[in-house]
Amino acid sequence: MTLRERISEETFRERSIPVLETERLVLRTPGLADVKAVAALANDRRIAENTLRIPHPYHIADAEAFIGTANAGEHETVFLVTLRDGAVLGACGVGLLNGATPEIGYWLGVPFWGCGYATEAVRAVIDYSFVTLGHDQLAAGARVSNPASRRVLEKCGFQWTGIGLYRIRAIASSAPIDRFRLDRGLWASLKSWGARRVA
Ligand SMILES: CC(C)(COP(=O)(O)OP(=O)(O)OC[C@H]1O[C@@H](n2cnc3c(N)ncnc32)[C@H](O)[C@@H]1OP(=O)(O)O)[C@@H](O)C(=O)NCCC(=O)NCCS
Repeated sequence: MTLRERISEETFRERSIPVLETERLVLRTPGLADVKAVAALANDRRIAENTLRIPHPYHIADAEAFIGTANAGEHETVFLVTLRDGAVLGACGVGLLNGATPEIGYWLGVPFWGCGYATEAVRAVIDYSFVTLGHDQLAAGARVSNPASRRVLEKCGFQWTGIGLYRIRAIASSAPIDRFRLDRGLWASLKSWGARRVA
């Protein structure tokens, strides 16, 4: 089966992944129609150098490979992040990388930075991870040179646990990262606190 045939054939697992809706966003599984938009947005060194697996330059074939393999296995769930009018902003996913704790990863096209979209998308994927997937803990990492990503994690309740090294494909090298963790208890506490109104 070619990659294109694979992308156009929706698997049973992909059908079981819900659409997540937030105030401004829709998160859904990526498909063949998204290849061009993903390739255009992801082809930016500022994105590649802050993510593990995004190459630079980023070609149509890279977007096809990303979309063709996204959600093919059980170990990772990938959502495309879109506006409610359908415009593609980026991607956000949760899955097992190296450790035993599922990790959250995300990127947005540069024109959409600074609008709170990443925080909104990551919160939706956190809720999905705890409620639907039943995880008890989530991990995340951000390069020490990436304060925007650290801030997103902090706004979502993640707590700093230490430093580590991640292999970054686009720089063909390892780079220091801040590690973060969010457990179910803290998440539940933040959710119930947010739901209470001060009289
Ligand atoms: C990280 C990324 C997803 C953030 O997206 P975004 O939609 O701009 O994020 P948000 O608007 O939700 O929040 C960004 C926060 O970082 C803050 N921020 C941005 N640049 C900053 C900087 N240089 N120093 C400190 N804070 C910064 C913003 O002010 C905002 O915080 P605030 O709401 O308290 O003001 C986006 O920059 C991106 O895709 N980067 C490349 C890929 C990447 O880094 N992915 C994460 C891998 S760990």
